[in-house]
Amino acid sequence: MTVLVTGGTGYIGSHTCVVLLENGYDVVAVDDLSNSSEEALRRVEKITGRSLTFYKADVCDGSALDRIFEAHKIDCVIHFAGMKAVGESVVKPLEYYGNNLGSTIELLKAMRRHGCGSVIFSSSATVYGSENEYPYRETMKKGTCSNPYGWTKSMSEQIFTDAAKADPELSVVLLRYFNPIGAHESGLIGEDPCGIPNNLMPFITQVAVGKRKELTVFGGDYDTPDGTCRRDYIHVMDLADGHVKAIEYAMSHKGTEVFNLGTGVPYSVLEIIHAFEKANDIKIPYSIGARRDGDLPEFWADAEKARTILGWHTVHSLEDMCRDSWNWQKNNPNGYER
Ligand code: UFG
Repeated sequence: MTVLVTGGTGYIGSHTCVVLLENGYDVVAVDDLSNSSEEALRRVEKITGRSLTFYKADVCDGSALDRIFEAHKIDCVIHFAGMKAVGESVVKPLEYYGNNLGSTIELLKAMRRHGCGSVIFSSSATVYGSENEYPYRETMKKGTCSNPYGWTKSMSEQIFTDAAKADPELSVVLLRYFNPIGAHESGLIGEDPCGIPNNLMPFITQVAVGKRKELTVFGGDYDTPDGTCRRDYIHVMDLADGHVKAIEYAMSHKGTEVFNLGTGVPYSVLEIIHAFEKANDIKIPYSIGARRDGDLPEFWADAEKARTILGWHTVHSLEDMCRDSWNWQKNNPNGYER
């Protein structure tokens, strides 16, 4: 069975390619390399001892997609490709809507032209917005997003849902990720952000490796147990494993189904810092700064639906996440050297 992975050279895409290859799937990856490196895929091949096919192309380009679908019989698509920096999306909303919605629409049209009926979409817990109580459940109404990036996830979900309503042969699985961190245990692949990291764990590992002086904790006066925000951090290999389960589900069901991929357990920013220090025996200098605009005090997943219906559960601990994040960063201080 052949899986087309859009955004295959990215952080979650590359880890998912490993799990797909290890589970016997053939992989065709496509990426425009605007925020990633092809080196990630060479490392995927090294880890798995298997090869995959790569196309450098923009998923918004329908004729490029046609060439890929003509060259391979694609059984299922996983759609990761997209712009994902929350702050940047506020400054460049048109680029975010154009790219993230355009790629979703072009992909669905190409799938229809070539008779491909199964797709997994990389969505986000951000679609629950600010109105919902935690833990977030899939049965909750989606909420108001605080930035264009979040809206592109919410709107893409709607586009996939409507496309599946109109086409009884289409099967869609929407996966809502919580906070992926960690890396493959080999230390060969991991998260390689461009410039100053927006997310917590890459910032911590860059402080640990000496690239940044200290971490600023965004807000210490939230109404949470230690005053810092709490999130549901999930090991990227557990997340990748969830995609294989989602493919199995998509291949045997029609219509749209949505699953949270989280552990169901929240940790605060201070707990993450201290877990990282303990797991790796490294001190992380930090100070408490101002709150970051748009941050919710806390949220985490109700992970029951994925457990009961997909038969998926997480196996990696917070210690594993901290150890593997550091293992990747210390072996690759400059990431893939883009
Ligand atoms: N944080 C800091 N200092 C930093 C970076 C982050 O204190 O330098 C804090 C944030 O304030 C937040 C926590 O660490 O409390 C996690 O922040 P991240 O940026 O790593 O993650 P977010 O929860 O803000 O965002 C993530 C994804 C988004 C997604 C969002 C909601 O990165 O793609 O979850 O699901 F939209």
